[in-house]
Amino acid sequence: MRTADRNTRRFFALRFQRFNFVCMSRFILFALFFAFGNGLIAQNMPPEVKKITDKYACNSCHVLDKRVVGPSWKDLAQKKYSAKKMFKLIREPQPGNWPDYPPMAPIPSISSAEVKLVADWLNGLN
Ligand code: HEC
Repeated sequence: MRTADRNTRRFFALRFQRFNFVCMSRFILFALFFAFGNGLIAQNMPPEVKKITDKYACNSCHVLDKRVVGPSWKDLAQKKYSAKKMFKLIREPQPGNWPDYPPMAPIPSISSAEVKLVADWLNGLN
């Protein structure tokens, strides 16, 4: 093979490597944002509440002030549910309460103490 050909090939191989690297970095950034972005938007939560809402992935469907999968935390706060009532609703959701939303999957493993922390925070929002 002529030297010129080899050089051209090397040139394009390097180009391609660089291109690949840039694409991968973008992809990783995007994936990270996707994984943690919702958590960032849902900020403004005391750490003990954040811990619970992360543990049960509440933040992937509820964020502070816009509709994602479920109603925003602010919309939920409007309902002024007591901790006891919210505990029941999380374990046995009543999709009829939010007609234009998909039904929330029940989360039976959450404890009443955990729900109380979330409910106290929610009820103090407005
Ligand atoms: C997979 C998405 C998803 C997750 C995870 C999720 N929710 Fe929901 N949530 C929804 C949707 C959708 C609704 C509205 C429809 C419904 O109530 O079934 C809702 C409704 C609610 C309501 C209102 C219930 C009512 O009847 O008015 C509360 C309170 C609530 N969620 C709290 C939580 C808490 C706290 C967590 C975490 C422990 C959580 N959600 C996790 C999607 C989710």
